Amino acid sequence: MALERTFAMLKPGVLSRHAVGEIICRIERKGFNIVGLKLMRIARPLAEKHYAEHKAKFFFGELVDYITSGPVIAMVLEGEEAIALLRRLCGSTKPLEASPGTIRGDYAMHTNFNIIHASDSPESARREIGLFFAEEEILDWKDGNDVWI
Ligand code: CMP
Repeated sequence: MALERTFAMLKPGVLSRHAVGEIICRIERKGFNIVGLKLMRIARPLAEKHYAEHKAKFFFGELVDYITSGPVIAMVLEGEEAIALLRRLCGSTKPLEASPGTIRGDYAMHTNFNIIHASDSPESARREIGLFFAEEEILDWKDGNDVWI
């Protein structure tokens, strides 16, 4: 199994609903190490860059409006197979298809407001981490749990 880093973003609705702690609790409980974390307001050019692959889609404008409408929490998470695991924890992009027990399955009603973003591949993870974090904002640390397990 490969140790990976992935990018996650709690969208503005999470802060509006005061659910930051609940969502981060699920991420930590699963076993991810938080190696980068910041509260930020995304400027429009950064949002457009982040979602560049969706530029031609009908929902692009609304997506950028939403993601820049309030603060977000950006995170770099580390763990074995972190990219795929986080996607599983989040559930399907469309809340109607997200299983109960997943973050989107439990917290989201609408695809536009689907609570959390998670990188979908190693290339996206690298690109997105680079967009949101400077190298010195990411900490290289180990939780030490391998001593116990
Ligand atoms: P996210 O994982 O942040 O990546 C792209 C986002 O576009 C997605 O979550 C949704 O919030 C948003 N979106 C809106 N409509 C759609 C759609 N029809 N299909 C996929 N993503 C959509």
